[in-house]
Amino acid sequence: MSKQIPKTILNDGLEVPAIGFGTVKLNGNQGAQAIQSAIDVGYRLIDTAYNYENEGTVGEAVRRSTVPREELIITSKLPGRYHEYELAVPTIQESLYRANLDYYDLYLIHWPKPIQDNYVEAWESLIQAQKWGLVRSIGVCNFLPEHIERLEKETGVKPSINQIELHPFFNQADQRKWHTANNIQTESWSPLARANNIFEKEEIQQIATAHKKTPSQVILRWHHQLGSIPIPKSSSKERQIENISIFDFSLDEAEMNTISSLTLSDGRQNDQDPAVYEEF
Ligand SMILES: NC(=O)c1ccc[n+]([C@@H]2O[C@H](COP(=O)([O-])OP(=O)(O)OC[C@H]3O[C@@H](n4cnc5c(N)ncnc54)[C@H](OP(=O)(O)O)[C@@H]3O)[C@@H](O)[C@H]2O)c1
Repeated sequence: MSKQIPKTILNDGLEVPAIGFGTVKLNGNQGAQAIQSAIDVGYRLIDTAYNYENEGTVGEAVRRSTVPREELIITSKLPGRYHEYELAVPTIQESLYRANLDYYDLYLIHWPKPIQDNYVEAWESLIQAQKWGLVRSIGVCNFLPEHIERLEKETGVKPSINQIELHPFFNQADQRKWHTANNIQTESWSPLARANNIFEKEEIQQIATAHKKTPSQVILRWHHQLGSIPIPKSSSKERQIENISIFDFSLDEAEMNTISSLTLSDGRQNDQDPAVYEEF
């Protein structure tokens, strides 16, 4: 299965798969089983975060899996309460201790928290961690263009990736365009809008029927054709397989536009606006 997944090369040269696996709420032994299953069925990019309290579970799944560590891209994220440099550096180290891994492939700042305003310090800690070999590639989540511009201006280092809320109800057209112009890879969190009344949409169902695919596959294919990396979470092996099986069909322009047109101005799932959201 993994052989069929296309790859994308980030602006720093790291090669990553075109789809990943989200792990929110996958904790403990059941979580490790679900993540191991995801690896077994072909996912190679695994997304966790310090704040999900499951970096240990992800590390356990990696050790249980027969896939060599170097074939996996493991992502974690720095929480907002540890943005100050003196706090951020040990937090990245703690992230690794929790997972019992020697390095992360990707490490991201979880939210910019611009009101708190020390995300540049946080970025400096990621740059240092990369120099020490603790992380291979560094990026951000939920950063608006102005936040990324400031990182680059003050440190000279541009993120490889920006993981943002992106699904048909919130298509992020302007932010994606800006990423493309600035050679930053878009990654979609909550790509299935948390399964919140999206699969029932008539427009999605019609497209799914036309392609003999499921609504979830059509939505994930839409992400892929937008040029973004979706990271759907599923606790079920069947749905994990369903979600990764999106590379044998394509949507035409009209179908892409129909899905994009489901976007609403208040389409965020939890009203988490990066300009003001104070992630803990
Ligand atoms: N950077 C950030 O700020 C941020 C924020 C939120 C999330 N994330 C990351 O993004 C990942 C994905 O987002 P998410 O977990 O919020 O939501 P999501 O992936 O959009 O949706 C997950 C939900 O969809 C269900 N589901 C998955 N595949 C399905 C299918 N084929 N058919 C029917 N239902 C299906 C899952 O249920 P089952 O488990 O029962 O299948 C689960 O309830 C997270 O796990 C996390 O890693 C990052």
